[in-house]
Amino acid sequence: MSGQNPYLPEAKIEKPRAPYKAHFLPHDVSVVVRPEALPDSAKGLPGSLLQIAMTNGVDIEHACGGVAACSTCHVYVKRGLKSCNEPLDEELDQIDNAPAATFESRLACQTVPNGTEDVEVVIPAWNRNAVKEGH
Ligand code: FES
Repeated sequence: MSGQNPYLPEAKIEKPRAPYKAHFLPHDVSVVVRPEALPDSAKGLPGSLLQIAMTNGVDIEHACGGVAACSTCHVYVKRGLKSCNEPLDEELDQIDNAPAATFESRLACQTVPNGTEDVEVVIPAWNRNAVKEGH
């Protein structure tokens, strides 16, 4: 079960068909994402950067629970951006409210790489979740 906002249009995502590498900075955590073992939690789109990060010990803030209703999961996709789904207008609206947004900005909960490239993701200091959740 994944977190999707019922008030948003359905995101057009293409799940990966081959393994790819996701590298999270500044944690310097590299994860091999395997199509047959995509994380699927209640927070964010299935296979999203948020789910990949959170299931591999990289905590990213996600105040709205991963339904594109905040900008606390704002990250920079430094490599592999073209392999990610197109953002919905609602995501772009949230990014407009995020501090220090750039053309590499995405919401981690709404961004699903298709696996055709490795991705490198930088988590801004203000969005690193310092508190471990117990669920
Ligand atoms: S967690 Fe709120 S938009 Fe991603």
